[in-house]
Amino acid sequence: MTTQAFNMDSQWLPFTPNRSFKNDPRIFTAASGAYFTTHDGRQVLDGISSLWCVSAGHNVKPINEAIKNQLDTLDYATAFQASNPKAFEAAEMIAAMAPGDLNKVLFCNSGSEAADTSLKVALAYHRARGEGHRNVFIGRERGYHGVGFGGISVGGIPANRKAFGAALLPRVDHLRFIHDPVNHAYINGVEPIWQEDILLELESRILPLHDPSNIAAVIVEPVAGSAGWYLPPQGYLKRLREICDKHGILLIFDEVITGFGRLGTNFASDYYGVVPDMLNFAKAVTNGVIPLGGVICRDHLYNSIMQANDKAPEHAIEFFHGYTYSGHPVACAAAIATLAHFKSEDLFARAGSMGHVLGDAMHSALKGLPTVLGIRTLGLAGAVELTSIAGLPGKRAYDIFMECFHKGVLVRPAGENLVLAPPFIVDKAQIDVMVGVLADAIKKHA
Ligand SMILES: Cc1ncc(COP(=O)(O)O)c(C=O)c1O
Repeated sequence: MTTQAFNMDSQWLPFTPNRSFKNDPRIFTAASGAYFTTHDGRQVLDGISSLWCVSAGHNVKPINEAIKNQLDTLDYATAFQASNPKAFEAAEMIAAMAPGDLNKVLFCNSGSEAADTSLKVALAYHRARGEGHRNVFIGRERGYHGVGFGGISVGGIPANRKAFGAALLPRVDHLRFIHDPVNHAYINGVEPIWQEDILLELESRILPLHDPSNIAAVIVEPVAGSAGWYLPPQGYLKRLREICDKHGILLIFDEVITGFGRLGTNFASDYYGVVPDMLNFAKAVTNGVIPLGGVICRDHLYNSIMQANDKAPEHAIEFFHGYTYSGHPVACAAAIATLAHFKSEDLFARAGSMGHVLGDAMHSALKGLPTVLGIRTLGLAGAVELTSIAGLPGKRAYDIFMECFHKGVLVRPAGENLVLAPPFIVDKAQIDVMVGVLADAIKKHA
């Protein structure tokens, strides 16, 4: 197929330089395992699990079959005032995988909706307990929580906020970013130990400024994914949990990327041994095949909101929130099959062990190359950070991304970083190809 086979005039591509795309498009027409087929018949290695989604690899038969069967059984049913067996079963499986008493699953369709849902649960919970004044949210610089107004407000990626300032939530503050480019530029699968207490500013500046009694929730990604795979300092998440507990503040982990095995454990919460009050998920829950997201809430959130309605008549709705497709039976059937497949193939353990292979390969092949400033790897993901070209932020990473694509590997540019996060089925030979192509491209664009 040539590009003449497509009319590209009508689609406005998301998070894409549309002008550049039309001059040199990336068009996938098929996929299987770790590979795409492009419109011009080339094989391209999916080095990023199609944006952290396709953790089990492409075209997984049991997932496809589950979707087909569900379509023939119950294609769709309204989510309001009703439910369906697949939604119950998927919620039960997800809650069983989550740590602690994270037991109540509110479904939505994406990570962005999960972010906004979790912020709304936080407000509703505090109000239910008579603390409606708790309405300040704290995110983190360079955090990514999708593109809804709540998500970009607590998010901290400047470009995502720049054009929308007037519509951001008013009562939001941000923790400082978690990167030390001097002492921890290179991290291979360990927790960086900081001399400085990076959370001191939360207790000494941010909380006093707003007064802790006004703060509803802190939301962070356990590992900052979209910004370019930045790892938390040792003890950071535990201490964040302690500070939140001390002041009655809810802690939300956005695990849209880290959830379902990326670190070799069910969730990053398990990896770091910290249970948040809410855990947001999406992407890999259905292997990316059908949109599904959600928020797993601790029992006390659900119970508080139910108890606040004790005196209300039984027909009264307790939480005015939901989406037409919350708990869509086809998406939930895909989730059930995906989670069963992860388990039967022991894919999270494989992500953990292949993560060491990826980490070692990236550090040995990329460290010392021209323009390389740092490499961070943990679980089955890693980022290499490069110097920027003066006056052209992001251009070097973009050029390298394009170069890799032409050489048969899909990588992800994120600011001045290139990210690799292959499907859990990846093997060592494929990792060597990915890292080798990336190394050549870095040299070429130095
Ligand atoms: C941590 C995190 N939260 C939220 C989102 C948004 O998810 P979606 O694009 O499904 O809305 C993403 C997407 O990459 C993410 O990485």
